[in-house]
Amino acid sequence: MFFRQTWEEVNLDNLDHNLDTIIKALNRKALFAIIKANSYGVGDFQVASRAVAKKAQYLGVSSLDEAISLRHQGITAPILVLNYVSYQHLLAAKKNNVTITVVSFEHAQKIKESRINGLRLHFKVDTGMNRIGFKDDQELYDAIIALKQDHDVEGIYTHYLDSSEANQITKEQFDSFKRTIKRIDHPFKYIHLANSDAIFNFNDDISNAARAGIAMFGLASNNKDLKPVCSLYTKIVHIKQVSEKETISYKGTYLTKNNEWIATLPIGYADGLNRHYQDQTVYVNNEYAKIVGRICMDQCMISLKNYQPIDTVVEIFGPHIPIEEVAKRLDTIPYEILTSISDRVARVYRRKRGIEKIDNQRLDNKNDCD
Ligand SMILES: Cc1ncc(COP(=O)(O)O)c(C=O)c1O
Repeated sequence: MFFRQTWEEVNLDNLDHNLDTIIKALNRKALFAIIKANSYGVGDFQVASRAVAKKAQYLGVSSLDEAISLRHQGITAPILVLNYVSYQHLLAAKKNNVTITVVSFEHAQKIKESRINGLRLHFKVDTGMNRIGFKDDQELYDAIIALKQDHDVEGIYTHYLDSSEANQITKEQFDSFKRTIKRIDHPFKYIHLANSDAIFNFNDDISNAARAGIAMFGLASNNKDLKPVCSLYTKIVHIKQVSEKETISYKGTYLTKNNEWIATLPIGYADGLNRHYQDQTVYVNNEYAKIVGRICMDQCMISLKNYQPIDTVVEIFGPHIPIEEVAKRLDTIPYEILTSISDRVARVYRRKRGIEKIDNQRLDNKNDCD
């Protein structure tokens, strides 16, 4: 249920299609569905459920909080935390059956000292991101030797810094990772390095799993079979014709022309429509219109050539305005656009046959608002 006139629509048929496309490209390698940051804002429970139904072997999240939240929602599939988990929280990881990433020699020592055993571990190798991970093979080897008695050393992985097209850096990262795997010589169950782009752009002969995030939403480079999943909509709630040289919104940064129709939309920067969207294009009834004036916290205004009635649907991005184009114009990436849509925007999960589910963080589980 939701009462606002603003919502994100998630096309579950296209999500299923994209999962099938990714799985086909993986050619029997295991799929790790990366659903961190509430699955890029799309909804971690919904996306996890679809990925697991399609036989994803693992889910990847960014923190123990995200992992445990999924457990609370009934997700039983293996979950890997891709970022650092403090040695102080290992018991919570164990209790919730969450796999953790060992990110450094120091981290491995702390895990050893914690005297907690029986954890499932994946080791992160730093081949060029310089973010987290082992840079030194000897340290990695020593850490594995130190932990393998008491834990399940299940996986090893690295992360590409640019897999959007074939390039020398990716090749060097891959070669370095392959050398490390050969030197370590441990029977890892999972070896993984590709993200979405790499799944479609590089074939490698060392991994048996890959981590796909953005491709699930149709946004990997270089694959035309993927379909868009997410659209952001709002509705006109107020419209008026203005005269010449009126100001619009805070600071009066926009001066109207004669006979312009100004419509107000109930979406603002607190919804993820950040202030850089000013001057961007939206789609209204076969017409492209411009956001004019400063974007407010909860509202913004658009300029229309013609009158459109209240409740007319306005597309911020979707079938007529690809998210990639919006990202380019705002000098960012689709990941940021999607993860910025705040939790006060309801998520509507739709199939061709109709709406399957609506998630509204504000009102879900509260039955007193009918
Ligand atoms: C370590 C790691 N693996 C995989 C992914 C998934 O990347 P993508 O969404 O490009 O598939 C990410 C995303 O940021 C990541 O940080």
